[in-house]
Amino acid sequence: MKQRANLFRVFNIFGYLLLGVLLMVVLAACKKNEGTLESQSARGNVIKIGMALPLTGVEASYGRDSLQGAQLAVEELNTNGGVLGRHLQLVVKDNQSKAGETSIVIRELINRQHVSALVGEGASGRSLEAAPIAQKNGIPLISSGSTNVKVTKIGNYIFRMCFIDSFQGKVMAKFAHSIGIQNIAIILDSSKDYSIGLAQSFSKDFMALGGRIVVQQSYTGNDKDFSAQLTAVKAAHPEAVFLPSYYTEASAIISQARQIGLEVPFMGGDGWDSEEFLKMGGKAMEGSYFSDHFSPDNQAPVVRNFVEGYRKKYGIPPSALAALAYDSIRLLADTIQRIRTVDPIQVRDALAATTNFPAVTGTITFDENRNPQKPAIIIKVRNGKFTFFKSMEL
Ligand code: PHE
Repeated sequence: MKQRANLFRVFNIFGYLLLGVLLMVVLAACKKNEGTLESQSARGNVIKIGMALPLTGVEASYGRDSLQGAQLAVEELNTNGGVLGRHLQLVVKDNQSKAGETSIVIRELINRQHVSALVGEGASGRSLEAAPIAQKNGIPLISSGSTNVKVTKIGNYIFRMCFIDSFQGKVMAKFAHSIGIQNIAIILDSSKDYSIGLAQSFSKDFMALGGRIVVQQSYTGNDKDFSAQLTAVKAAHPEAVFLPSYYTEASAIISQARQIGLEVPFMGGDGWDSEEFLKMGGKAMEGSYFSDHFSPDNQAPVVRNFVEGYRKKYGIPPSALAALAYDSIRLLADTIQRIRTVDPIQVRDALAATTNFPAVTGTITFDENRNPQKPAIIIKVRNGKFTFFKSMEL
């Protein structure tokens, strides 16, 4: 009985303690909101930027990296007084890496959240879903990493921070050729605009250089077993395999290739850029090459500054999508600050006139199709890490 009473008292003390702590947390949160983002938002005093991202699902690392890059840019800008004296606020919606979801959340961002502009997606297929809606509503959209040629053709409100796949394919064709590859196999994801477009441009340019595509195989996104395709590839005796896939399938395909004794080098595009590629693929990824937008090894002062800030905040080096999202937010903020308005028509016109914007992924000058001309880099997987191999300009 006495023991029970003691126990009760102990629980009581804990109860009060917990209540006290909760009260302190709530008070602290209220205090923090005075004059900060949320209360400003209530007064309509912030500039809202919408992002539809794959925060969950098979491409979740793209979403996480993009969000982290964007958040760092917003934090830096707000610390320095914001834009037009107002704070920037990211309004982020998860599209779950699924086709069909982006159009829903983009409508919500435009119609309910009344965002001034949109940044992202990275994946081309999802940008192709978002762009017609942004265009129709007259909301400027800057895609961070969508390289498919069609994306900015949707209309004059659509921009991108990255190079395009007709360039990326050519870069990889030239690179494969330069290391003496003549007979190559291609495995592509027939459910992704990115993969189809990049495979096409690579084939065309590789053949123009005198190379041969000895076999082409395809799969559809989310497939797990690639033995049929890999057996066909092995039988054609290529000297390398071009694999324009996203990281989840790319790492699975290369791992399964090694299991059946297909030991030739694999080459890919920017879609491989995720820490998950290395984690999931392990040793099997060694010696592979891919083209990309950014390397944290770059020693240029503007890049070093960004890489240090990112590492300090997140404890990891930034990926290409983190860097591209960071650049997209900064370009948008710079544009709005320069023209002193968020009026979408004026923002669009000013974005289109961008020349020599010093981004961490290169200098941005838009051509008449709202695409920037930028160099690509080749990354090699060495000792379990993405390492800068060489820079490629055409
Ligand atoms: N370029 C890819 C696409 O268009 C997206 C991507 C960019 C993925 C950069 C990783 C890094 O779908």
